[in-house]
Amino acid sequence: MCGIVGYIGRQDAAPVVLEGLTRLEHRGYDSAGVAVLGTRGIRVAKQAGRVRELTEVLPKRFAGTTGIGHTRWATHGPANDVNAHPHTDESGRVAVVHNGIIDNAAALRAELGDAGVTLVSDTDTEVLAHLVARSDADTLEGKVRDALAVVVGTYGLAVLHADFPDRIVAARNGSPLVVGVGDKEMYVASDLAAIVRHTTTVAMLDDGEMATVTSAGFTTVRHSDLASTGKTATQVDVDASAYDAGEHESYMRKEILEQPTTAQAVLRGRLDDRFGTAHLGGLDMDARDLRAVRRVKILGCGSAYYVGQMGAGLIEELARIPADAEAASEFRYRDPVIEPDTLYVAVSQSGETIDTLLAVQEVRRKGGRCVGLVNVVGSAIARECDGGIYLHAGPEVAVASTKALTNMFLGFALLALQLGRVRDLSIADGKRLVAGLERLPAQIEEVLATESELVEVAHVLAEAQSLFFIGRVRGFPVAREGAQKFKEISYRHAEAYQTSELKHGPLALIDPDVPTVALVPSDELTERNLGALHEIAARSGPLVVVTHADVDLGGIDARRVVVPRNEPELDPILLTIPLQLLAYHAAQHLGLDIDKPRNLAKSVTVE
Ligand code: AGP
Repeated sequence: MCGIVGYIGRQDAAPVVLEGLTRLEHRGYDSAGVAVLGTRGIRVAKQAGRVRELTEVLPKRFAGTTGIGHTRWATHGPANDVNAHPHTDESGRVAVVHNGIIDNAAALRAELGDAGVTLVSDTDTEVLAHLVARSDADTLEGKVRDALAVVVGTYGLAVLHADFPDRIVAARNGSPLVVGVGDKEMYVASDLAAIVRHTTTVAMLDDGEMATVTSAGFTTVRHSDLASTGKTATQVDVDASAYDAGEHESYMRKEILEQPTTAQAVLRGRLDDRFGTAHLGGLDMDARDLRAVRRVKILGCGSAYYVGQMGAGLIEELARIPADAEAASEFRYRDPVIEPDTLYVAVSQSGETIDTLLAVQEVRRKGGRCVGLVNVVGSAIARECDGGIYLHAGPEVAVASTKALTNMFLGFALLALQLGRVRDLSIADGKRLVAGLERLPAQIEEVLATESELVEVAHVLAEAQSLFFIGRVRGFPVAREGAQKFKEISYRHAEAYQTSELKHGPLALIDPDVPTVALVPSDELTERNLGALHEIAARSGPLVVVTHADVDLGGIDARRVVVPRNEPELDPILLTIPLQLLAYHAAQHLGLDIDKPRNLAKSVTVE
């Protein structure tokens, strides 16, 4: 989604800002721009297309040591040069970059129009530039405060003003912003990835906070009344190389291959062999709190929602607590009943998905307890929750999530184990699952080692215009995630269905041109699953079956993909890994830009 980078210091700002923007490229965008404040005021260059294209056409005399830049993912108005950020006021003395959505933009545009202002773009952001310019406050902070006072919506924004050349003012409400501290130079960004090569001393802004950033440092205030919030910077423990693809041809491939290591990271120090349980200190819930939980409701979006369904299954199986997952994007709009003895769990890689954040706020507003399963430390969802489980997957750059999802599943397994062991899950079962979890990283490695066998299968699937992913009970969320990954990066229509539901309708679509990827683990449903495969084969539907070695397909004509067996409850994650590779190799076969799938963004910070 949209990205922001700002720089103020001793160097020319434009190259620093543009380099930062390239670090946000994989998050999805359709236009880019930069504004620099030099001795002759503000200059802006912006256009539809890639940052590289903007860099190539940037005028040589684009000098100035203060600058802001943006990658835009179109919401209000199409992706074109005019709608690209930064936006300026009529005099060109104010420039603004903005992530988020101004909900009352239409009304503000009308008011500005009535006041004689000519708006040149279709965007909501442009109103901010005019509002800042029209404020008669005598500080830039005051002008931004005045502008924000009439704005309803979400924003992470950075503002330059030619009358205040020593500063960038940044403000946050619902859209992440981080301030980075260098040596007589400072950075502003919507994501640490943009600045981590320059500094790991950072301050994350909170909602309602504004920062004044000069080359010498920064101060923070509440943007409603400019009262100090006194935020200081802290050192974050990140390795800049974790943000590089290294020798890999894409971030997605790198992140798929990292899974044996990242899976170990989420389990490390959290398993207890002696009592067959897990310890999740970050939950901040003792045994009594855990025993008091009568229901679990998991909230997430997209793939996080599908892994949430896997997690709900695990919790219900192991802890015997009713559990389900719901799309966080729908949750608050149905005015949900919030129960005091329900444990709400928000699950998110980025920790910034606005739909999930708003769902958490809905729970807490009504007095519910919400914990988080989040990858990005210090992110908005992590901060909003009552406690939680960090996923420790490291930075995930590819839009298509892989390693973070695996760690979400493992996080849910740990939670299910802990909830189960304070109830009726036996120590024998607890130990069985602890041992299973300890085996998993090596088994993920085994699946990854079969990659070459999956390439040809992926090429066959890539040729189909439409395909099914099917599974039952534990396998159904796996099918949903498999279909999601496939459509995200290969742009093929992939539909997930419960295997049991096929004959209630979609079987009508099965023919030699519509392949089905079927999940058939060795479990109590194997025979039932094989029955459905026969029905598909009888209609000449091509089949790829992801299964265990001991499952006999009984002469069904299918391509077989075998994964190692673990404990049946933990099967979903080993069944998911080959589906990541199938999606990856299908997209590669089709020559698509895997890390930058069209229309998608890594972190969806607008509703
Ligand atoms: C996953 O491949 C997707 N890009 C997407 O569905 C993602 O899982 C969803 O937007 C939620 O993101 P989050 O985990 O950062 O909240």
